[in-house]
Amino acid sequence: MEEAALRRLLVELAGSLFARGFSVGSAGNISVRLPDGYLITPTNSSLGRLDPARLARLDAGFAHVDGDPPSKEVFMHRAFYGARPEAQAVVHLHSTMATAIACLPDVDPDNPIPPLTPYFVMRIGRRMPVLPYYRPGDPAMEPAIAQAARDARAVLLANHGPVVSGRSLTDAVYAAEELEEAAKLALLLRGSNPGLLTAAQVNDLLATFGS
Ligand code: 13P
Repeated sequence: MEEAALRRLLVELAGSLFARGFSVGSAGNISVRLPDGYLITPTNSSLGRLDPARLARLDAGFAHVDGDPPSKEVFMHRAFYGARPEAQAVVHLHSTMATAIACLPDVDPDNPIPPLTPYFVMRIGRRMPVLPYYRPGDPAMEPAIAQAARDARAVLLANHGPVVSGRSLTDAVYAAEELEEAAKLALLLRGSNPGLLTAAQVNDLLATFGS
């Protein structure tokens, strides 16, 4: 996709996330890979009011070369691109239900959301580790994310929110949405005893739709 079209798509998808409450205020940031660098949302910008011409442009080494100053969490995105060559986009949100799960002390740190539905498994995969709390913008989280992202498409930052990668910008946004809905289901069903997809069903989904 041409850069101009990617800029428009990023603004459209970010606006849609904001309009539906997946992001509030200036929370969240989104990036997409270009042939020679990256586009990322400017720091302190609202996902609901982005300007395609003012997105921050980074070179292949993640240095800011054009547009407004980039998100203070560039390193969070860099960790995913470095660990996952297939990643074309990264979405970070503070979406309510996923963040609620990231605040619970007693979840499985490798799989805080059980395999309740096929689309969660298809979009997020087999594992989604919970990483410790870091202050937003703290570069110390980069090595932790880079290591976890080697075998996870998404991570949950404790008391902060999800970071999700995708094979395209649309894929990353859809995965972030699916994660939020799965988190909502997991919270709705907390304390009950829901049926989960079996290991064989999870394997079948990942074999059929890609892991
Ligand atoms: P930026 O405005 O710098 O992208 O930070 C927003 C955010 O979501 C922090 O976690």
